Amino acid sequence: MIIVVGKLRWICFLIIGFLVSYCIVSCDPEPKNTSTTTELLADSTYDDHSYSNLKKIRTTHLDLELDVNFNTKIIYGVARHTMDNKGCDTAIFDSKGLHIQKITIGPKGQERETDFVIGNMDKDSILGQPLLVKVQQDTKFINIYYQTTEQSAALDWLDPEQTSSKKHPFLYTQGQAILTRTWIPLQDSPSNRFTYSAKVNVPKELMAVMSATNNHHKNENGEYYFEMEQAIPSYLIALGVGDLQYHAFDKRCGVFCEPQLMSACSNEFSDLPAMISAAERLYGKYQWKQYDLLVLPYSFPFGGMENPRLTFVSPTIIAGDKSLVSVIAHELAHSWSGNLVTNRSWDDFWLNEGFTVYFEHRIMEQLKGKEIADILSEIEFYELEDEIKRIEKSNHPEDSRLVLDLEGRDPDDAMTDIAYVKGAYFLKTLERKIGRKKMDAFLNDYFKDFAFETVNTSIFERYLKKKIQLNSASFNTNDWFYKKGIPKNCITIHSTRLRKMEALANQFVANPKVLAPKKFFKYFRKRNGRRYKKMFVEKIERKDHIVQEWMTFIRQLPDDIGAEKMRIVDKYLHFTTCGNSEIQTEWFILGIRNKYNAQRSKIEDFISKVGRRKYTLPIYEALCETPENKAWANELFNEYKANYHTVTRNSIAKLLKK
Ligand code: BES
Ligand code: ZN
Repeated sequence: MIIVVGKLRWICFLIIGFLVSYCIVSCDPEPKNTSTTTELLADSTYDDHSYSNLKKIRTTHLDLELDVNFNTKIIYGVARHTMDNKGCDTAIFDSKGLHIQKITIGPKGQERETDFVIGNMDKDSILGQPLLVKVQQDTKFINIYYQTTEQSAALDWLDPEQTSSKKHPFLYTQGQAILTRTWIPLQDSPSNRFTYSAKVNVPKELMAVMSATNNHHKNENGEYYFEMEQAIPSYLIALGVGDLQYHAFDKRCGVFCEPQLMSACSNEFSDLPAMISAAERLYGKYQWKQYDLLVLPYSFPFGGMENPRLTFVSPTIIAGDKSLVSVIAHELAHSWSGNLVTNRSWDDFWLNEGFTVYFEHRIMEQLKGKEIADILSEIEFYELEDEIKRIEKSNHPEDSRLVLDLEGRDPDDAMTDIAYVKGAYFLKTLERKIGRKKMDAFLNDYFKDFAFETVNTSIFERYLKKKIQLNSASFNTNDWFYKKGIPKNCITIHSTRLRKMEALANQFVANPKVLAPKKFFKYFRKRNGRRYKKMFVEKIERKDHIVQEWMTFIRQLPDDIGAEKMRIVDKYLHFTTCGNSEIQTEWFILGIRNKYNAQRSKIEDFISKVGRRKYTLPIYEALCETPENKAWANELFNEYKANYHTVTRNSIAKLLKK
């Protein structure tokens, strides 16, 4: 059904226009097997997750006027699109949970209203609504006047109590994968790149920052201007508004956060300049001028989000000892893989994430050495194996292929470790095959040749074959891209340090005393020849090992270890209260399975504030394993769901409904 807005005689025309354009877009011929980069790029632009008719008319620049109102929790906006119009009479945009007030065509100030039709949105709609706008064959400017609603899932409006300061409200957006359309009406497909600018009004006591040029200081009038002069895909438009301060690490990088977190953040992230230099040494110059971080409140659903020039991060990565900064290496790496060279549709998500995990490990290797990089690789492989087992049992066993088929599905449901870890292992295996020198030359060329473009797997595959002589006998790219599970030639990476942690866990299970401090004496001789003894205490401490080692230790403990042994571990290693979110999550899950009740209030503290889905969801999953705990999980969710972003809230709600 279609809701009608505007003049009636227009409607049939628009519906037919829409159906026709939709059909044309979806009936693209198969790409030809061509070889130049330009020809490779002329491949299909079809995207299952956008209604837009990009081949006929597409946005080249977006100018936003936004009024952020914390009283009504509404953004009142105008989205002014500059179009590249191939001479068509209907422009199609994506919109979900937005209230469209009017649409005009023409440059600002010389606008005239035009008709539009907006498709109906059913309850479980994934894509939202197509917004069809009547244009002339020479229309260049389309201006959409709109406001956000409670259904604008990208937006997380936080009350003061949900922030560190407890004094001021906060707002941030999360666009990836298909949520930008819930706060801006636009052509929401990663296959289109455009530049953007924005004027944003916020309450005077707050500061606005975006994935664009940013002021580093709050101003008097609450009016902020932004410019993103490099073309980006829609999912990378991002806004944060709060009581923010800035600390510069050097001329091109720094961190924004609430004042209360500043001293912790400026310590934790101080290796940022070294990280950027390491990344540049690997794959060429950083192309986005500035690289800043924005530390968000605890509700943020991800560890990090690579919004260009301004990576958004969760405060859960502030562990006090820089032990979780590989998340920053990851988001920084996206400045090449993802932001510079972008997946053309969400089916090719692995081209963003797999390359990024590979790159992240290479940055970590530069900063911390090969041993640490290998630890990261190995621990993730363990997670990949678990993920594959889960996927095999799910309704979509085909999701363990690198190239996905997400038609009719929410892309969020299939963004798993396959893209991240299997993707990275594809590149690691390729590196082993061709050697690091060739690999790096190849990746440098790839980032140069496809800079500010979008690619899919078939483009990548043809490019790879053009650059490197690989035949199917020497390298099974086909299995990697299109088959389920882990291909036969996948390399393995082993770290002796992790084997030692497994051994320690086994020893502990056999004899819990191994963790207890051990006293011993050493004998010395005084100058006068008399012997004396000195007591020493030897103790395994948490700081002796990195997070991934402790995670391996915990994972090696038997599932039914029992509450008493967990209490002993806590007595010596204090996992329950350690403040390291990775360790705590593993430990809480084991504790739930072992009725380790001493932990319960800490679990509640954690769950009540942390909205990072990677932690919150597995803890809820563990709670759902028994009816009593499931009842508790329901109580916790009802009590604290307002502290989670919609992305996390929806995932947990789905789990609890099962
Ligand atoms: N781009 C992702 C986050 C994302 C993925 C948001 C899919 C929405 C849909 C980001 O770069 C990411 O991968 N974050 C990870 C970091 C980790 C792999 C180091 C996270 O948040 O856990
Ligand atoms: Zn990522």
